Amino acid sequence: MNSKLPAVETTIFSVMSALAVENGALNLSQGFPDYAVDPKLIELVGHYLDAGNNQYAPMVGVAVLRERIQEKFQRVHGLIIDAEQEITVTAGGTQAIFTAIAALIRPGDEVISFEPAYDCYAPAVTLFGGKMVPVRLVAPEFAVDWDYVKSLITPRTRLIIVNNPNNPACRVFGMADIAALAEMVQNSNILVLSDEVYEHLVFDDIQPQTLLKHPLLRERTFVIGSFGKLLHATGWKVGYCVAAPALMIEFRKVHQFNVFSVHTPTQYAIARLSGRCVTL
Ligand SMILES: Cc1ncc(COP(=O)(O)O)c(C=O)c1O
Repeated sequence: MNSKLPAVETTIFSVMSALAVENGALNLSQGFPDYAVDPKLIELVGHYLDAGNNQYAPMVGVAVLRERIQEKFQRVHGLIIDAEQEITVTAGGTQAIFTAIAALIRPGDEVISFEPAYDCYAPAVTLFGGKMVPVRLVAPEFAVDWDYVKSLITPRTRLIIVNNPNNPACRVFGMADIAALAEMVQNSNILVLSDEVYEHLVFDDIQPQTLLKHPLLRERTFVIGSFGKLLHATGWKVGYCVAAPALMIEFRKVHQFNVFSVHTPTQYAIARLSGRCVTL
């Protein structure tokens, strides 16, 4: 077998978790919460299973859940998102990231990303013939030197991947970071993938801003979310992507032939949890 990803080995998360089990060790290596899922949510999943919601969900996600996501963006960020055209429910944040990269990256395209980084970005880019252009962030601040990032841009730069708040460095972008990023992609063909799965897991009184709040980035950014993180149910693998209609059309072309749709009862249960009564 001529591997398309010769440099890729088993993810560090699987390696460390297996070692922890083998040695009976405390596992601090994999980012999943050790507190329980809301029992109401578990009950709701059971309810929607029993009620017969067991066939394919709509390709873009069930309408009530997309409306919930829409409401969240309005409440938290004051942003109006179109639930029909701009939101797709995915099998976790990871599938959303993979799908956006698959929809965008062609052989020879360059992708700027910041390190240390979550480990699913680079393999997806490599798989589609892209070239990673890493930017090392330096401890203890892990701040981005935007002038340096600018110096890395070439006519082949197609995508900039950001993770805000950052895993593992915990760095959260300020307004100046967002403005610098917007200025850099202005008048170019560069798009942005913003992994925002940790937007509600922050220290102190920091309020992370979605890149979609910036008018220029609003048109150019795929924002990734994860209900696994939001509801501390990482094993359920339900997430979403939010992007402007032109971007979302391309995203859905890949999504529909990749997973097509996501676990139906869980989508209804998550939608219902936040209060709305869903007709079965
Ligand atoms: C930064 C980051 N993005 C995405 C994900 C994946 O999210 P999901 O479990 O919803 O696929 C993780 C999981 O640890 C993560 O740390």
